[in-house]
Amino acid sequence: MSAFDAPDLADVLAARRRIAPYLGPTPLYRYPALDVLAGTQVWVKHENHQPVGAFKVRGGVNLVRQLGADERQRGVIAASTGNHGQSVAYAASLFGVRAVVCAPEQANPVKVESMRALGAEVVLHGRDFDEAREHCEKLAAEHGYRYVHSGNEPALIAGVGTYTLEILEAQPDTEIIVVPVGGGSGAAGACVVAKAVRPSVQVIGVQSAAAPAAQRSWQARALLTGDNSTIAEGLATRTSFRLPQEILWDKLDDFVLVSDDALQGATRTMIEKTRNLVEPAGAAALAAVLSDPARFAGQKVAVVCSGGNISPAQLLALWA
Ligand SMILES: Cc1ncc(COP(=O)(O)O)c(C=O)c1O
Repeated sequence: MSAFDAPDLADVLAARRRIAPYLGPTPLYRYPALDVLAGTQVWVKHENHQPVGAFKVRGGVNLVRQLGADERQRGVIAASTGNHGQSVAYAASLFGVRAVVCAPEQANPVKVESMRALGAEVVLHGRDFDEAREHCEKLAAEHGYRYVHSGNEPALIAGVGTYTLEILEAQPDTEIIVVPVGGGSGAAGACVVAKAVRPSVQVIGVQSAAAPAAQRSWQARALLTGDNSTIAEGLATRTSFRLPQEILWDKLDDFVLVSDDALQGATRTMIEKTRNLVEPAGAAALAAVLSDPARFAGQKVAVVCSGGNISPAQLLALWA
């Protein structure tokens, strides 16, 4: 499979078998207080309950488990604001593979500490994700590491697609699935599964208006770059990636932007109403629902709470 071959439902089912010994299903809970606020039935898919606090780990375990002896021996490298890096570090630690992660200099310290505790070598480089990614690509070429791109990797998309299988099994009459988007692997996985299992299920992507490269690329059907000043580091990229975009161009129903104010408000709401730790990227799907309640009224909506790795400083700022 090349880096640009879209996975299908069979790949997601295979991924589920591959990751099952290492990662259990996550809960899908409904909270009456959220329903009242949203004016509809909202089901929260708790990817913040993953062992590294984010959905990405499904993809990391699926990918690293399939690496051949040569790639395992070379070690893996990834660029990340923290959750893809934790995913790769977690999976590498399971299979005894060396992991290097390049993260921006100002990366969330909770994520950096976790990656280091998982045994990864963390290289802090650059002002943002894209500068860290360029450095990572240079190190991969210099040292021969297996580069795990955060978007152009069919095994990552198939792996993260497994949460949508769980949503549709737990609540088969789900009508809309709302997914936070950075590079687009999560939304691409959701599309692959939903459109194969029940095409009437709408999949809606959400990005921050302060980092809209993926949303603009989806609208234009072209790989565009954009600004990035969002507080939600999980959604913070200036570029768009070919494989997830091609899947989204084909299958995604809609792609909306929310303001960073809405992201902060939804993060507070998620913490208060679900009593869960949630990072701003993890509250983006709820932000989309609360920003446009009329659109979702009367529908059964699953919001993907993609991560919970909020730092103490970010938490304090929410209630400052
Ligand atoms: C918590 C969280 N939500 C959403 C995303 C966006 O995921 P993707 O890059 O697959 O679109 C990320 C990416 O790291 C993330 O960490």
